[in-house]
Amino acid sequence: MILKTKDLLTLAELSPKEFSQLIELSIKLKKELKKGGTKPILKNKTLSMIFQKPSTRTRVSFETGMFQLGGHAINLSSNDMQLSRGESLEDTAKTLSRYTDCIMARVYDHDLLEKLSKHATVPVINGLSDSFHPCQILADFMTIKEQKGKLEGLKIAWIGDGNNVCNSMIYGCALSGVKISIATPKGFEPNKVVIKESKKSTEIELTSDPMKSISDADVVVTDTFTSIHNSDPKRIKKFLPKFQVNPTLMKNSKNNSIFMHCLPAKRGNEVTSSVIDGPQSVVWDEAENRLHTQKALLVSLIRA
Ligand code: CP
Ligand code: NVA
Repeated sequence: MILKTKDLLTLAELSPKEFSQLIELSIKLKKELKKGGTKPILKNKTLSMIFQKPSTRTRVSFETGMFQLGGHAINLSSNDMQLSRGESLEDTAKTLSRYTDCIMARVYDHDLLEKLSKHATVPVINGLSDSFHPCQILADFMTIKEQKGKLEGLKIAWIGDGNNVCNSMIYGCALSGVKISIATPKGFEPNKVVIKESKKSTEIELTSDPMKSISDADVVVTDTFTSIHNSDPKRIKKFLPKFQVNPTLMKNSKNNSIFMHCLPAKRGNEVTSSVIDGPQSVVWDEAENRLHTQKALLVSLIRA
């Protein structure tokens, strides 16, 4: 499949049909890999990966994905690039576009991705910014589809920080019609514009009561209380103990609910070990699915 958009920066660039097709393609690529291999659809294609922030899953899944598709990925820490000595993002984008077929960037300020997208002639993928994490949400919805067999009619409970992953999760819900109830402490709500736009397409509840949010949920999701861009440990006090996903809270979700977390997790803070390592947790499938969704995205964005 070919996507209409050149870049994937937020998820809002996709139509509901494209979102669903990307998930189906990811499931197909996963089956092909398990059966014996991936066709080298991206032979001789190269991906530049710029990292301003650390990463385990995003880096390894993109690099492995490109390798399995017959292509190559180049890992670029922004500290080792001329960017760190003041070369402009505009010139960097133009240069990388002359060598490589796609740019994936993990940045602090989301505006940097907008600049990259403006000046790169090749697709730009957001590998996480302070505001969004679209690639994570593709993997999350693939995992939900695998676990529940459908997306229609489901309810997600997001418990904790209304952060970058939460913003993208809301867009994912808008693209699939999945309902979401978000429980955050006051002052930690997700982006207002994202909520306003997404309310046109799905039901969104905002509350500061995790028990209310989790009631009847099919999927329970959380993320760390301290993100890379918001790492002050004093934040944690605002969330504990009320916003921790523990067995008492989980009991209020549906009996067959699943637990998800983008990882890395801080056991004992946003989630207890008993939940993340327990029978309802699908976090390892979720992490694996980053590989399959990354591959689907790359083959759909990189033109032959
Ligand atoms: N979930 C996620 O993006 O993980 P990394 O920070 O390890 O890439
Ligand atoms: N919210 C986290 C996600 C990490 C994958 C962060 O931005 O650090």
